[in-house]
Amino acid sequence: MRVISKVTELHQWRAKTRSQNKTVGFVPTMGALHQGHFSLVEAAKSKCDVVAVSIFVNPSQFAPHEDYDNYPRDLESDLKKLEPYYQNVQDDDDFIVFAPSVEEMYPRGITLDIERQIGGFVEIRGLSLQLEGVTRPHFFRGVATVVTKLFCAVQPDLAFFGQKDIQQCFVVRALVEDLIMFPMKVVIVPTQRDPKTGLALSSRNVYLTDDERDNLAPMFYKGLKDAVAAYENKNERSAEKLLALVRNRAEKEGGLNIEYISLIEPDTLEPVVGNVGEKGAILCGAWRIGAARLIDNVLLGIP
Ligand code: PAJ
Repeated sequence: MRVISKVTELHQWRAKTRSQNKTVGFVPTMGALHQGHFSLVEAAKSKCDVVAVSIFVNPSQFAPHEDYDNYPRDLESDLKKLEPYYQNVQDDDDFIVFAPSVEEMYPRGITLDIERQIGGFVEIRGLSLQLEGVTRPHFFRGVATVVTKLFCAVQPDLAFFGQKDIQQCFVVRALVEDLIMFPMKVVIVPTQRDPKTGLALSSRNVYLTDDERDNLAPMFYKGLKDAVAAYENKNERSAEKLLALVRNRAEKEGGLNIEYISLIEPDTLEPVVGNVGEKGAILCGAWRIGAARLIDNVLLGIP
């Protein structure tokens, strides 16, 4: 395993993998790695010859009032946690971790104040201002920008993203297509959950108390599962009724502070009007609990 912090070194590594005809699978992360991230690494290992994981807490996707300063950072411990995935690789260059500095990724500098930012940014219009974009209007511009930079730096064949951040998957797929990126594909990996409670794993779960993590936060997924059960077993297709099932469990019974719950079309992210159609739908939402803001989603009728 090799840790690389400079883009020039990364390009040399990429030239070597290309000369060896090895395919590269890329897993972008912000660190504080957990089983959700490892499932992406496992998928990359199973589909590609070489794996690149990036660890970079990207300032441009945080607003000034958000948790950029407090976001958990521990590169040493992340590298240790990755050991089972790289300990058997034959060549050090067959598993690399790209951990750049902020200056390396933003050569003109970066401020959390969006009005004062200079330099190049990527915006995917039409997918960025709804759902997560309502409370975080700056967020997908930051994600699209850093993911574009990371893709240009790593030049992967396949890039792996988690379904937990479903809107992010849409934005990333759109940027690959719209910007006519070099031939690469985005692979979406299912959400990893706590086996006991069903709570989606997230680096931000460290902000929760034991009670919040084990008893309260999982009520959202319980609500999503109620809707899945109604969709699958009772043929429930009414958007209103499916949304009410989640609200009943998460808000009324669980007392969660819901920010939004939406049932959206799987291609446009627009709200389902009336009944879920043949294409199925995505049921997603966000809630605040203690010091954390969490998100989750399930797919209805989508394989
Ligand atoms: P981060 O939150 O570290 O997540 C990195 C990747 O892990 C994302 O694709 C995310 O969807 C996936 N992931 C997180 N929790 C997961 C879970 N429980 N199950 C499956 N996958 C999970 O997402 C980001 O970082 C950043 O926005 C990034 C794309 C790196 C750009 O800065």
